[in-house]
Amino acid sequence: MATKATISFDNNSPSIDLPILKGSLGTDVIDIRNLGKHGYFTYDPGFMSTAACNSAITYIDGEQGLLYYRGYPIEDLAESCDFLEVSHLLLHGELPDHKQREEFISTISEHTMLHDQMSNVFRGFRRDAHPMAVMIAVVGAMAAFYPDNNNVADPESRKVAAMRLLAKVPTIAAWSYKYNIGQPFMYPKNKLGYAENFMHMMFATPCEEYVPNPILARAFERILILHADHEQNASTSTVRLVGSSGANPFACIAAGIASLWGPSHGGANEATLKMLEEMGDVSRIGEFIKRAKDKSDSFKLMGFGHRVYRNMDPRASIMRKTCHEVLNELGLHDDPMFKLAMELEKIALEDDYFVTRKLYPNVDFYSGIVMRAMGIPNSMFTAIFALARTAGWISQWCEMNADPEQKIGRPRQMYVGSARREFMPLHKR
Ligand code: SDX
Repeated sequence: MATKATISFDNNSPSIDLPILKGSLGTDVIDIRNLGKHGYFTYDPGFMSTAACNSAITYIDGEQGLLYYRGYPIEDLAESCDFLEVSHLLLHGELPDHKQREEFISTISEHTMLHDQMSNVFRGFRRDAHPMAVMIAVVGAMAAFYPDNNNVADPESRKVAAMRLLAKVPTIAAWSYKYNIGQPFMYPKNKLGYAENFMHMMFATPCEEYVPNPILARAFERILILHADHEQNASTSTVRLVGSSGANPFACIAAGIASLWGPSHGGANEATLKMLEEMGDVSRIGEFIKRAKDKSDSFKLMGFGHRVYRNMDPRASIMRKTCHEVLNELGLHDDPMFKLAMELEKIALEDDYFVTRKLYPNVDFYSGIVMRAMGIPNSMFTAIFALARTAGWISQWCEMNADPEQKIGRPRQMYVGSARREFMPLHKR
């Protein structure tokens, strides 16, 4: 394996040797940290070929369609774990043993309530506010309620912040929904499991007993696991960049939620369902495929394509299987939306445009169909993505703050603006 790269120049200026670093898995990296001293920057809009950090949390092989959390294949974790076990794995690097699991669960359970004053933050919004706007505000407001977590250099403070966020974000997400529909906030029930508790806070009312369907709760745990982390995606990179300035954990996670909201990222699950609803019938699939291929049309086939995967997103396959299970449990195996999605997937994967560009369904393609079948409204899909990704974001944030190589993130640019100009006073313009 090469140990250095040499850059030579066509103007015979001295060549530059750059070390090549090798991780435990995946692509080797050329260490360009000293390139600036030689008078050059690299140029990589969208960071297509840039490793911004080192991390031991999640590994993705885009060509083979592999996804590991701390070395464990996502298929095994989705099949055999619950979300809090996976959160422990992401945060601490190991699956918990019995004692560690009980301690982790009880700590989370003891912190699921919000400071009562925080309910007023919700009330500053109009009822029709998008839940993501509310989540950004309320998670950010946690910085004002928990200033004791501002010491980001203290590992114990980081751990407390992580537990507070894992415990409270489901309450914040569910209350964002309740506020939206004008129903009273439902307090968490700490004897329930993580997914069951969220479903309780989403769907229960003070007027009658609500018992979460165990099949749906298990499916929901799996959905959370699939969305928990995904290497240095846009929102995780946002959390790291905001955190690199020493910002408090709540401001960093609020920034991650903001980035996730975009339709090219976590907002794609909501956009995918809107697209399928607009499409309506298999007879219109060709029309949408045509639009997706038309360069003069900004329309993209939502739920398709990925920056890293050049193969099926392994999460999409598990999500499609979960779709079947949930729809069968609910007696919706003939759900027209699911049939439409599967037909769209089949046609797209036979179309040369998608095949040559290696565009496959991603995690957002089926997730909306599952959540809609569970009674979750479109507007909550990305909020649930944010709920799950909080485990990954806070794990990556903790890893960054513990990294001795960590520095404030400050990219450079290729300047294409005006050279120095003489100032022109107003009367001469
Ligand atoms: C997530 O990064 C992560 O890990 C994200 C995520 C996570 O867990 O954090 O996996 C979650 O965000 C999944 C992606 C959800 N987004 C969508 O489903 C929105 C639709 N997808 C596209 O917007 C797009 O595929 C992206 C944004 C996901 C990826 O875009 P890239 O990597 O910048 O790829 P590109 O735009 O350069 O596409 C390469 C080619 C282009 O065509 P050409 O210029 O080569 O002719 O593929 C085309 C694109 O136009 N293309 C699509 C397409 N996706 C890419 N054409 C039609 N429909 C699409 N969906």
